[in-house]
Amino acid sequence: MKLKDKVALITAAGGAIGGSQAKLFAQEGAKVAVADIDLSKAKVISNQILNNGGESFPIKIDVKDSNSWQDAVKETLNQYGTINILCNNAGANFRVEFEEQSESQFREIIDVGLIGSFLGIKHTIPFMKKNSNGVILNLGSLASIRPQGGSPGYASQKMGMIGLTRSAASSFAKYDIRCVLISPGHVDTPFIRNDNNYSPNGWETSIENPENYNKRLNDTPLGRLQTAEDIAKTFLFVASDDASMITGSMITVDGGAAI
Ligand SMILES: NC(=O)c1ccc[n+]([C@@H]2O[C@H](COP(=O)([O-])OP(=O)(O)OC[C@H]3O[C@@H](n4cnc5c(N)ncnc54)[C@H](O)[C@@H]3O)[C@@H](O)[C@H]2O)c1
Repeated sequence: MKLKDKVALITAAGGAIGGSQAKLFAQEGAKVAVADIDLSKAKVISNQILNNGGESFPIKIDVKDSNSWQDAVKETLNQYGTINILCNNAGANFRVEFEEQSESQFREIIDVGLIGSFLGIKHTIPFMKKNSNGVILNLGSLASIRPQGGSPGYASQKMGMIGLTRSAASSFAKYDIRCVLISPGHVDTPFIRNDNNYSPNGWETSIENPENYNKRLNDTPLGRLQTAEDIAKTFLFVASDDASMITGSMITVDGGAAI
């Protein structure tokens, strides 16, 4: 019970990585607000938690929208009275080369991933400050370490998460509020497998295509793609008191892909 009685607000929690965090945090005693732009997906995860005896409720949120954050925070406070942990997981990508990426695609990637995470911090920090305690967990990527030529928006968003994380960590350390960036490698989730509106994939980019799957596999020295559970376990560690002296840093969970 590493998170006993803690309240966690988790975005993109209807998805693979956020959903896995939500279930693991609930198993460890947290009360979990499962927030996603797709309410039906949030409900599935929340019901799984309830069926396992945990505490949870689903919320619809569009992380790009300040009003939506306000509503989600209000609802979490109504349900559980406070917020101790924020997980900023929501992201977007359009996997096209620099010259093909449109202004609107670039803006969308920044809006969802970077501004969405900034808004999450802005709206939850007053309650963490009130508790004189809190943990903010941001989601990075290999693009936070070695951004490459494709998708300049994604490179900028994920490098931007380093600055956002360090800025929050140094601003709020005096209130015992920590902020950490966790950067996965290649995780087998719908984000890189399916054709989603926030992350379109065709045969050229999807890991359904064995050539793409094997490229990512060969890029991973430990010999397998990560699972959402691999990432959730690190989120749990950083959210818990076991990591009470970790802030402002980045932790990679990538099977060595960034080496
Ligand atoms: N899968 C990978 O290989 C990988 C690697 C590194 C980082 N990431 C990061 O993981 C995140 C994606 O998570 P996943 O891999 O579990 O994918 P996923 O597709 O399973 O989940 C993404 C979830 O985000 C939700 N979402 C999309 N736009 C939203 C918005 N505006 N507001 C709220 N929710 C929104 C979707 O409805 C979906 O449920 C992104 O931030 C991505 O950059 C993924």
